[in-house]
Amino acid sequence: MLETLKWTDSGVLFIDQTKLPVEEIWVNCPNYESVANAIRTMIVRGAPAIGVAAAMGIALGARELDVTSISEFRNGFGQICRVMGETRPTAVNLFWAIRRMRRRFEEISTRPIPLIKQGLVDEALAIHAEDIATNRAMGINGAPLMPDAGGVLTHCNAGALATAGYGTALGVIRAAVEAGKQIHVFADETRPFLQGSRLTAWELMKDNIPVTLISDNMAGAIMAQGKIQAVIVGADRIAANGDTANKIGTYSVAILAREHGIPMYVAAPFSTIDLETADGSGIPIEQRASTEVTHLAGKQIAPTGCLVENPAFDVTPARYIRAIITERGVATAPFNESLQKLAAGTAALV
Ligand code: MRU
Repeated sequence: MLETLKWTDSGVLFIDQTKLPVEEIWVNCPNYESVANAIRTMIVRGAPAIGVAAAMGIALGARELDVTSISEFRNGFGQICRVMGETRPTAVNLFWAIRRMRRRFEEISTRPIPLIKQGLVDEALAIHAEDIATNRAMGINGAPLMPDAGGVLTHCNAGALATAGYGTALGVIRAAVEAGKQIHVFADETRPFLQGSRLTAWELMKDNIPVTLISDNMAGAIMAQGKIQAVIVGADRIAANGDTANKIGTYSVAILAREHGIPMYVAAPFSTIDLETADGSGIPIEQRASTEVTHLAGKQIAPTGCLVENPAFDVTPARYIRAIITERGVATAPFNESLQKLAAGTAALV
């Protein structure tokens, strides 16, 4: 299975996603500041992978704290968590992972400092292992929703590279293919950062899953030709009512899918669901550098000084989403009720 990040004694290793698909390079982040920088610069990206990276970065920073008292440890630990929390604003998995590391710290804070450090490393490693297991469970829950044969369109990269491994939306596709379904993936290239062409096409080709790359503005025409039987995407944050923040362009895909009568699915771990945010209007949307739009592979493609907008995410209203696939089960409308049931563990698996 394709790996995205690894814990080692000398730091956290990341496959550098800014270099793919041309170069397959692993970078070592020896301290928490460099892990935070890897998240900020998208060496590692994708909501679940950001959460795992943050947990490992916090464990790394805590391990390096040179302190003798628990109050000094607490101060240093708080500072590390703050730096990690300022890397990217939209993916709620980041804040989920920080909260989980903080909670673990509180649970073990009466232990000797070396044991606290080990406990935090163990927690980060548990988050890593759980993410892969979660993706596999999502695959099992979501595979029956995929067509037995036909085209499935996806946007951005919600694959192994966006997680600790296996993927969310691509995990569901992988599970469907493993179950014998004849799926052909259509990958939107995903302007401006090109996660679809650089990452999704690359990782599916590595797995020998048939994939055709299209530019974002082709999706409507390809749907009109009858080539798409389902759409599946990941998510960066899902509000309590099911409104879903995902990579910019997802909203347009959702409207196109509705127009063509194609079901649209969202696959995300429960850590992506933010029940404290009532609807999509409360989700913070990251704005990224204008050069991502004005330049392509370092080459200027827009007039100097041109005004640019570059929101990294959009919100797809829940009414466009047929189902939200999680490791706990599949939620359908009304999402306010179904997500609460999954949270309480009272819903049966589909
Ligand atoms: O900006 P990114 O690349 O971190 O955004 C990631 C996405 O939006 C993914 O497509 C996604 O669905 C969430 S991660 C599984």
